[in-house]
Amino acid sequence: MKKALVTGCAGFIGSHLTQRLLNDGVTVIGIDGFIDNYDVAAKLRNLAEIGKHPAFTFHSTTLQTGRWDIWLENVDAVFHLAALPGVRNSWGKSFADYVSHNILATQELLEACLQRPKPPVIVVSSSSSVYGTMQGTLTNENAPLRPVSPYGVTKEAMEQICSVYVKAYGLPVSMLRYFTVYGPRQRPDMAFHRFFRQMLKGEQVIMYGDGQQSRDFTYVTDAVEANLLAAQHAVPGDIFNVGGDREIKLIDVLSIMGTLMNLTPRITYQNGPAGDSLRTCADIQFAQQRLGYKPKVTLEEGLRHQLAEIRSQSKG
Ligand code: UGA
Repeated sequence: MKKALVTGCAGFIGSHLTQRLLNDGVTVIGIDGFIDNYDVAAKLRNLAEIGKHPAFTFHSTTLQTGRWDIWLENVDAVFHLAALPGVRNSWGKSFADYVSHNILATQELLEACLQRPKPPVIVVSSSSSVYGTMQGTLTNENAPLRPVSPYGVTKEAMEQICSVYVKAYGLPVSMLRYFTVYGPRQRPDMAFHRFFRQMLKGEQVIMYGDGQQSRDFTYVTDAVEANLLAAQHAVPGDIFNVGGDREIKLIDVLSIMGTLMNLTPRITYQNGPAGDSLRTCADIQFAQQRLGYKPKVTLEEGLRHQLAEIRSQSKG
């Protein structure tokens, strides 16, 4: 891979991926529309280092402005991370924005890639939220899709539109279903970010539900690695679970956080917004076999890195 396009390059996962590509000697075209789902200053901070790199060109715009000829010129891989993320805010009027950013923009990207003389390899970011609440043992990619949030519905539709382009035209698209990614630069609406900040300020942690919900939390550099592996080894139409080192209950993560911070978390339990999955647990066998994907960072280690970043920011 010589030149890549990263959509959503100022976001949490997108900025880490861009950094990694640049470190690996790849020329990167980055696009970010700075949609106002959270503080623009945080996204600008994510770009601070990358922005100085001579092999990086940045376009500050949403995909809907459609300057594909410029963005896709000589690109051999596209990493599509631009989206409106977050399950809990996708109700009500905001659903139209979720449809626009997650489904319509993706279709425009696919169409533009199809028009290229040689379409690039495309790796699309999807989400474990397409499954809803998981049952039984580990969930593989053939499990039924039963999203429990409007966001999950848009990610499922996004996957479907990608699959349609694969079937009709053989477009080289693969999809990654991330399982609740965490680590430095995590979005400020996400649980670990909020919990660490609340505890650093001496506040109570706001726990939605009873804390018994579980997740297969995935460290951000593992999600980045999955992108690179998919660009190299995926077969068009492949869909992969990208999970972490284990499934764990939220209340147990909080206790690990408390140990790392040398404190006992004080918790306020609240009814969370609707749309929360009660359980995610990834079967990553397919990603292991086809891609050689294996999460490298344990939850304990990943939490230490995220805490260090949040601590350094609260000082600065
Ligand atoms: C996350 C992302 O926000 C989605 O964009 C992504 O698609 C999804 O993971 C996924 O991987 O499928 P979520 O699992 O809700 O969604 O991640 P968090 O925001 O970190 O929440 C984890 C758990 O903590 C949830 O049960 C949530 O209700 C809970 N939570 C969150 C709290 O108890 N308190 C908070 O302040 C925030």
